[in-house]
Amino acid sequence: MPDDLTLPEPLPADPMALFQEWFREAAARRAQPNPDAMVVATTAGNGDPSARVVLCKRIDGVAGYVVFFTNYDSRKGRELTARPRAAAVFHWDALHRQVRVEGPVVRSPDAESDQYFASRSLDSRIAAWASAQSEPLASRDLLRQRVREIAARFNIAPDAKNGTVPRPPNWGGHRLWIDTIELWAEGANRVHDRAVWTRSLQRADDYSFAGAPWRSTRLNP
Ligand SMILES: Cc1cc2nc3c(=O)[nH]c(=O)nc-3n(C[C@H](O)[C@H](O)[C@H](O)COP(=O)(O)O)c2cc1C
Repeated sequence: MPDDLTLPEPLPADPMALFQEWFREAAARRAQPNPDAMVVATTAGNGDPSARVVLCKRIDGVAGYVVFFTNYDSRKGRELTARPRAAAVFHWDALHRQVRVEGPVVRSPDAESDQYFASRSLDSRIAAWASAQSEPLASRDLLRQRVREIAARFNIAPDAKNGTVPRPPNWGGHRLWIDTIELWAEGANRVHDRAVWTRSLQRADDYSFAGAPWRSTRLNP
């Protein structure tokens, strides 16, 4: 890998612009179907980690958080209610880059969840009601039956492409506020480049934190 793919020297005071630039480059490259995919790790009650892929639907580069949407009663949702911190990792293979973020998690304001839910396909909106995510399911037939019932409840004809389906009360966004972010870039001759930025976050209200200035440190790869 040429050295120009590595991190700037000196490191920028605020890492968010670089993170967003990498995110946009990953999307523009069209080298992977879901460049917005990130693995989110949460913690179970006994301290065990659990991880799964979700889609990062928004990065707020000014405030410094990422947003993903899910079922609040899912395993991750329950774990985040009990311990509202998460770690997430993006891997853009074709760009030879990785980004890790960590920090406290809050639920999105209803308006943010409503807006994103309304933008989803009809099938996705119906499925959000039908799937008791992470709960045992006796058969796929049962789930298909449930999809038909939900469609009927909202007066959606079997082959309809449009219709009004409200957001389920147990479905919505999470904002992962970043207090630690690490950018990793592959370097020539395996001399990779890696830096971490940290800041402290002070809770401001139900949805937001006030962030102290970032501190950056280059790390051995
Ligand atoms: C590419 C990809 C994208 C996914 N995006 C989401 C997502 O945005 N939200 C979500 O709840 N699950 C998403 N999933 C499913 C999750 O990985 C996971 O199976 C599900 O959320 C249940 O996880 P849990 O039981 O740990 O809560 C996605 C899976 C893949 C493979």
